[in-house]
Amino acid sequence: MASLSLSGKRVLLGISAGIAAYKSALITRLLKQAGCEVRVVMTDGAQAFITPMTLQALSGEPVRTSLLDADAEAGMGHIELARWADAVLIAPATADLIARLVHGLADDLLTTLCLASDAPKLIAPAMNQAMWRNPATQRNIAILNGDGWQLIGPGAGDQACGDTGPGRMSEPDDIVAALFARLAPPASAATGKHVVITAGPTREALDPVRYLTNHSSGKMGYALATAALEQGARVTLISGPVALSTPVGAERIAVETAADMHQKAMQLAPTADVFIGCAAVSDYRAAETAEHKLKKTDNSDGLTLTLIKNPDIIAEVTALDAAQRPPVVVGFAAETRDVRHYAEGKLKRKALDMIVANDVSAAGLGFGSDDNAAWLLWRTPSGNVSEHQSPQPKIQLARAVVQRALTLSPAPPSTHTRETS
Ligand code: C5P
Repeated sequence: MASLSLSGKRVLLGISAGIAAYKSALITRLLKQAGCEVRVVMTDGAQAFITPMTLQALSGEPVRTSLLDADAEAGMGHIELARWADAVLIAPATADLIARLVHGLADDLLTTLCLASDAPKLIAPAMNQAMWRNPATQRNIAILNGDGWQLIGPGAGDQACGDTGPGRMSEPDDIVAALFARLAPPASAATGKHVVITAGPTREALDPVRYLTNHSSGKMGYALATAALEQGARVTLISGPVALSTPVGAERIAVETAADMHQKAMQLAPTADVFIGCAAVSDYRAAETAEHKLKKTDNSDGLTLTLIKNPDIIAEVTALDAAQRPPVVVGFAAETRDVRHYAEGKLKRKALDMIVANDVSAAGLGFGSDDNAAWLLWRTPSGNVSEHQSPQPKIQLARAVVQRALTLSPAPPSTHTRETS
């Protein structure tokens, strides 16, 4: 994956005082694995959460913590360090650090380096949800955006302080992928191609307060979007309800029901060079959605719901006539046994070009987790080919899927000019 390498890129990683600082160790490791040179700068407060020694061991370089350090300055002065960086990444960034950056303060080494560096700057905020929602923080974020900082996240969910809401630092994989997309030159195979991805679960209302859904977190679909962006594609995500931030650069169309997803997919499929159906679409919906909340009754122990079938979105996409059908259609299959065998049947039945089949019975893989293992099966003129992808972070699997799908995509983007009907 030479085109996906960050080999030799010089990343200045700034760490401030948040509980998410422990995840900076993983960020450092991922950057090193991608071939980057990493130099870490920590604020005073950050050292209460993670030791410089840990980051020194992972980065292979001394960690800088102070502006007024004569020995460190004798090695590489702070202006030299600012010039050295191809990118500045701050993760986690506290509300306090953000406020100091907004005002152009240079009251410690990290803020001084940010002022002195012309390199692209990315920031992954992490704080309590009320602090994040506070108008002062929101004002500061808008100013940083205007100053050219690229914001990564934050995500929403459970917080270390016990609250739930926005302010969780994005996951290390997503942070590194955003940096990657910013630094890596787009590969020509995908430049300008339109990749349409369905992701997440759907929700099928039973009454005004209840719905049918499933455990899909959307992580795989969002990782596919990130991987396609890295490759220089234009990406549209048709997404069911998930607690994930939209990958920077992707267009996200939020849908709730299978019918909504179907409608958007049929509208966009004819404009796609690659269509990936990663959503866990509910196979059935209520025959009738009750207008008012369904009530418990005393005269019966049960409740019978009548369900009707939802459209099979991906099968309808592949059934489009030749002028409308995307050149490459990729489906997913979640199985608990005979993964390859069932996937082969689905590839044929749904007339897909490729299928990604995973075993969701394996602990720690698939639904909701960060890792996945899968079989990739695709058609060639001389028969189907399969390839096993061992357990790995979803973003890595996503890169393998997108790269394979792009190799199946025949038309160069300039000649693929079909319009939505
Ligand atoms: O039939 P099954 O649900 O196992 O097929 C999974 C594949 O089909 C996935 O690519 C999924 O996104 C797609 N699918 C769909 N519409 C449905 C059901 C599944 O697009 N109603």
